[in-house]
Amino acid sequence: MEELESKKIIALMSGTSCDSIDAGLCEVMPDLSCRLISGINYKYPEHIRAKIFQLFSGNASVKDVCLMNFAVGRCFADACKALISEFGKPDFISSHGQTIYHYPFDEKIDNISLKSTLQIGESSVIAQETGCTVISNFREADISAGGQGAPLVCFADEKWFKGKNAAVQNIGGIANVTVVSKGHDTFGFDTGPGNMIIDYCMNKFYGKPYDQDGKIALAGNVCESWLDCLMQDEYYYKNPPKTTGREYFTPLYIENALKFAPENPEDIIATVTALTAKTIASAYERFIYPDIDIEEVIIGGGGAYNPAIMKFLRAYLPKHINLKTHEDYGISNNFKEVMAFAVLGYCTYYNIPNNLPACTGAKNRVVLGKVTNC
Ligand SMILES: Nc1ncnc2c1ncn2[C@@H]1O[C@H](COP(=O)(O)OP(=O)(O)O)[C@@H](O)[C@H]1O
Ligand SMILES: [Mg+2]
Repeated sequence: MEELESKKIIALMSGTSCDSIDAGLCEVMPDLSCRLISGINYKYPEHIRAKIFQLFSGNASVKDVCLMNFAVGRCFADACKALISEFGKPDFISSHGQTIYHYPFDEKIDNISLKSTLQIGESSVIAQETGCTVISNFREADISAGGQGAPLVCFADEKWFKGKNAAVQNIGGIANVTVVSKGHDTFGFDTGPGNMIIDYCMNKFYGKPYDQDGKIALAGNVCESWLDCLMQDEYYYKNPPKTTGREYFTPLYIENALKFAPENPEDIIATVTALTAKTIASAYERFIYPDIDIEEVIIGGGGAYNPAIMKFLRAYLPKHINLKTHEDYGISNNFKEVMAFAVLGYCTYYNIPNNLPACTGAKNRVVLGKVTNC
């Protein structure tokens, strides 16, 4: 077997929030520990971001998908170039891409499964523009192995946090948890919406992309009856492994929910923010505490920067559980997923299986990702 060496990798990630392309130059060691050397949050040009939201809305053509695959690839390449101009070329690039559709349902036509996922940001464009080898398209192999193609970050969480009894909770557009413990195999699942419904409502009622520092939510009051009603959604009751996305929590879904909302927009923001925290806490009660004594919850992703989410989480989680963020472990909340995709890319490079079947539901361990040479 090839001797493993540490590698410098630029990892690229843009999540369902579509707030920025997170690009990080990382050094991954043979033990799969990872050091972030430098990270940037590279904003999409506004017209590209608007077009991606058009793709999300379903109001787009195949032509739009085709054009945007290359345009997003160019944006990802630009994010890389910003790092390369300062630090030089990495050994290779690991790109998650931009998810535009994720369909984890095993629906069949004539016995042909329609389970699928689509991340755009053409790897050949990134390879040609940067002169680097690109590893990309991680989710497809897991789906092909019978999984749901998500969550994939659990693999890195297991490497970094094994030995603790902890829920490692990412709060991006969607929120997902990895449960690491001394006595059980690592498992994980999507708990439900993270910032997605909050961002949607901030845009609708305030014309802003998000609730900066949770100020609006903290100024409002939670409408308990509406929150109870939102908590009834069947997704929260489904057993893991499970994964979700914008295809389920659609604008129409949110608009239907808003029909029963309180009148004051501050109260709406407060309640949907409480929903994120409460769905996390209740998922733990249903699916984690019966088997595992969690001692700490470690939050990451953009939601870690929303004090209202953190306040509600503190209120809903059992008192004996320590609530921390990744920063407490020297890992940036902002670049945690980037670092995880650096580790996933490292494994692809060395042919090391990098999915966790207990998290994705895959039948077996596989090497995720495809390699594009420049
Ligand atoms: N200072 C902040 N205050 C409140 N919310 C924040 C703050 N910073 C980031 N966020 C939230 O985090 C989201 C981005 O989180 P991120 O982890 O990048 O998600 P994704 O992986 O879906 O892109 C933003 O859309 C916003 O809702
Ligand atoms: Mg993001």
